[in-house]
Amino acid sequence: MVKLSTRYLEKFITEKDINSFQKKLTTAHFELHSNDIGGKGWLNLPANISSEELLKIKSAAQRINSSSDVLIVIGIGGSYLGARAGIEFLRSLNYNYFLKTKIFFIGNSLSSADIFELLKFCESKDVSINVVSKSGGTIECAVAFRIFRRFLEKKYGKEKSRERIYCTTDPTKGLLKKMACEEGYETFEIPPDVGGRYSVLSAVGLLPLSVAGADVNEILHGASDAMNTFNSLEISKNDCYKYSVLRNILYSKGKAVEILASYESRLKYLLEWWKQLFGESEGKCKKGIFPSSLVFTSDLHSMGQFMQDGNPIFFETIITVLNDPYKILVPHDSLNVDKLNYLVGKTVGYINSQAFLATADAHTYAEVPNIHLQIDDTNEYELGYLIYFFQKSCAISGYMLGVNPFDQPGVEAYKRNMFKLLGRPEDT
Ligand code: PA5
Repeated sequence: MVKLSTRYLEKFITEKDINSFQKKLTTAHFELHSNDIGGKGWLNLPANISSEELLKIKSAAQRINSSSDVLIVIGIGGSYLGARAGIEFLRSLNYNYFLKTKIFFIGNSLSSADIFELLKFCESKDVSINVVSKSGGTIECAVAFRIFRRFLEKKYGKEKSRERIYCTTDPTKGLLKKMACEEGYETFEIPPDVGGRYSVLSAVGLLPLSVAGADVNEILHGASDAMNTFNSLEISKNDCYKYSVLRNILYSKGKAVEILASYESRLKYLLEWWKQLFGESEGKCKKGIFPSSLVFTSDLHSMGQFMQDGNPIFFETIITVLNDPYKILVPHDSLNVDKLNYLVGKTVGYINSQAFLATADAHTYAEVPNIHLQIDDTNEYELGYLIYFFQKSCAISGYMLGVNPFDQPGVEAYKRNMFKLLGRPEDT
């Protein structure tokens, strides 16, 4: 469950402000739920994903787990951020410490160092590949796939390497789909009406998550519950829509940057996934809130000064996790040279929760509005719920801003220039 608190907003947002957005919200809701344009398939994905697809995902994950020390996930943007976010959320920032089949992400940059290091690491390992690309032609992903495909072919031979390649792509079109059909690679579907940044609840996220041992049914259960919960047009009864409204009010009051921050390091990639979701969905037509992220308390020691005292162009949305299953206590020390005995018997989780309260008060005082989102735990159910919460609030927020939250025309400009520089043939 996601609980939204407005406790730190009283100074910045009035009831009147919220009510004044009701009409925009109602229009946004009906726009989102109409069948006018494509890209809305994610809305019902938690209920629509077929049991056959789920069985296929689980059985591929089992095969990968039993045959491979390493799974390499090749993809960029929406084709990898959600999977990585989910694995870190459920396992740890250092998730590979705990996994028998280690999972590495590549093809999300053009860094030759990243490719070299992973090739080196994999030399003595058994390896499978999950290549993820909706269009099937993204250059970072395609280049990495060619390199790692060659690596597998050298290691296992062309015939045997086929059994180690899993392609997640559009079901009917694109170069990856074509190659998968020609070579006989196993394929998983990215539904045509689900865009990259909204695709984590398809095989894009679910296959790597399943390899990491996640209960994918429970992820979909959380997402389904969120899907059924966040439909009310009454702002006070719908925290998902309330989040969209609050951030648009703050934007209208001059807050052009949103910092999503968490007090748990394992949410670091969830913040990265959120940045792409909101940045690519809203940043168009010279409009949009710039999404940024920080991990506390770590970043309070690097960015805390700016946040307290710098140009207050931003607001914060803070995610805290209620349960602390670890209960790590500060031990007693009879010498007490470090003067920490006042904390004896307190858990690190408790100290973290006090850091949140102290920081939220200090930042509110410094004219930085704080929206507070609390989740209960970092389990599968909460992950699915939170993903859906953000996807829907993002789409609604985009509509209220007056942009199409499902396209990304701006990312083509650099690609055109790069292909020209690289001499790509016109007909490619
Ligand atoms: O959200 C998006 O559409 C993008 O971030 C894509 O996911 C990203 O560009 C990768 O595209 P593709 O999956 O076609 O390789």
